[in-house]
Amino acid sequence: MMSVSWLHKLFGQTEQGLEDFSFLGADMHSHLLPGIDDGSVNMDDSISMIKGLVKLGFSRLITTPHFMIDGFSNTAAIVSEKLNELKIRLKEEEIEIQIDAAAEYFLDEGFLNAIENDELLSFGEDKYVLFELSYVNEPRNLNEVIFKLCSGGYKPVLAHAERYAYLHSESLNAYQEIKDTGALLQMNILSIAALYKSENKHISESLLKKGLIDFMATDLHNIRQLELLSNTLNSKYLKLAMNNNILLNKKLL
Ligand SMILES: [Fe+2]
Repeated sequence: MMSVSWLHKLFGQTEQGLEDFSFLGADMHSHLLPGIDDGSVNMDDSISMIKGLVKLGFSRLITTPHFMIDGFSNTAAIVSEKLNELKIRLKEEEIEIQIDAAAEYFLDEGFLNAIENDELLSFGEDKYVLFELSYVNEPRNLNEVIFKLCSGGYKPVLAHAERYAYLHSESLNAYQEIKDTGALLQMNILSIAALYKSENKHISESLLKKGLIDFMATDLHNIRQLELLSNTLNSKYLKLAMNNNILLNKKLL
């Protein structure tokens, strides 16, 4: 009896799921700083979330609080202060993890001003800048923004690329165009667990099969999502992401 079907071979899946997320090493999108966005609500929450991520195999965290004029009026100073407080508490608790902070910018006036004034919080040697779009309205200035970031020496990374319904199509053309303009694509691991809409799961699978995803990340907002994350370790698509060897997460280690 054959133990591995041709389908499994095609997707690089064995019968066993992955043990943890150490194949990614670094998580570059999460909301772990206490009380400054819709993620961690207090320091205890932050510590529990970080303990969970360490347990899941991550060895480097770049946490990315929301910057959004109509929601979270964060600044570099606020982020730095909260990160320092968190690092002190991590030391007290003897939790060994390399943690830094950047931002998840919503494409609004605040982001445009930050680009104009060169006040961006980026991460990695390649100066990655994580940004997100409205889920409802397709932005008219996306290409222009990507172009500005690239010419300023940054590498734009579109957060949870699979979650924008107006980019969805069987051909994935919109995604290819964004990449051709110069942005990289980040996918939420939880999309393959269908945490969000089921069409996001479908698009996620297609994007992974076509090798269009550059970063995978947790986008962790709360402790409950840790269990959902561990459930995705059985996904054949996660294994596919690991095997196609194009993810850039490890470059951040
Ligand atoms: Fe996020």
